[in-house]
Amino acid sequence: MGEITNVTEYQAIAKQKLPKMVYDYYASGAEDEWTLAENRNAFSRILFRPRILIDVSRIDMTTTILGFKISMPIMIAPTAMQKMAHPEGEYATARAASAAGTIMTLSSWATSSVEEVASTGPGIRFFQIYVFRDRNIVAQFVRRAERAGFKAMALTVDLPRGGRREADIKNRFTLPPFLTLKNFEGLDLGKMDKADDSGLISYAAGQTDRTLTWKDFKWLQTITSMPILVKGVLTAEDARIAVQNGAAGIIVSNHGARQLDYVPATIMALEEVVKAAQGRVPVFLDGGVRRGTDVFKALALGASGIFIGRPVVFSLAAEGEAGVRKVLQMLREEFELTMALSGCRSLSEITRNHIVTDWDVPRLLPPARL
Ligand code: GLV
Repeated sequence: MGEITNVTEYQAIAKQKLPKMVYDYYASGAEDEWTLAENRNAFSRILFRPRILIDVSRIDMTTTILGFKISMPIMIAPTAMQKMAHPEGEYATARAASAAGTIMTLSSWATSSVEEVASTGPGIRFFQIYVFRDRNIVAQFVRRAERAGFKAMALTVDLPRGGRREADIKNRFTLPPFLTLKNFEGLDLGKMDKADDSGLISYAAGQTDRTLTWKDFKWLQTITSMPILVKGVLTAEDARIAVQNGAAGIIVSNHGARQLDYVPATIMALEEVVKAAQGRVPVFLDGGVRRGTDVFKALALGASGIFIGRPVVFSLAAEGEAGVRKVLQMLREEFELTMALSGCRSLSEITRNHIVTDWDVPRLLPPARL
């Protein structure tokens, strides 16, 4: 292959480079993978209404997220176990995010600890968390993330149980023996056999709490002063409840299509959530973003920013830190170009009128069969 010219190309390289079990873990979605394809496809149901003859010699992509100024509305989503992709794993991602002037969200299932990621240098970092069965573990996680200088939490709310990822079942997925879920290390884990890492992963999986409710979200607020984003909202109903419960922001996410299959693409669910949030909290999106045009479409539908997940692990697998830097750079350049060609000079100039969607046009006739 010649020079890499877009983010998607990293996926094929990652597939060649990684052991099948690892590649499949990152790449696959739940069950029929309908939502996985839809997260991408749905972007093609949104077209541009570009404005012309506007001086676009200066484009400002900067924005402020929860009070933190970043260089562009493109941030890094939490993805688990990045050292399976590359020996530098989360360190490389953290450095690439800092170099790009944007936010990295560290997974609580990371193969690097919050302290290790903090030691890579300055950067604005969020910490993704589950409310585990053992609340004592959650409290320890929160304290460590605060001490390590993390700025916000993203509470994942779409995983009361793990989704059915058949590739992982077939491959009997397990964390390679030389890696460990670093944030669990050194915690007071009660009876767990800490010497055994495969024990650790089943321990962590066993910590998924099916009883979780908004009460637990309220509890989490009482043990931290960090703002908490609710990650995994797909409906107006839940967006309203999240706002009522004091969420600092909402991430429209279907967990990279890894949980409930046949939920809509996140870009399809976004507008309903934005309307329900009524501008009271920022709304973000992850899932399927591979182009600068996708970023623009999300912002035109009311998102304050987007997060990328798989492009990070695939580029990490291909080229380590340089790959993640390149992904962020390519998306930045594509987004800047999209703004220029649409006649927008700053994020506040991106409006709903800059796009038209399939669902804007009343369908009087059934869609033509091609
Ligand atoms: C973890 O949350 C995963 O989806 O792999």
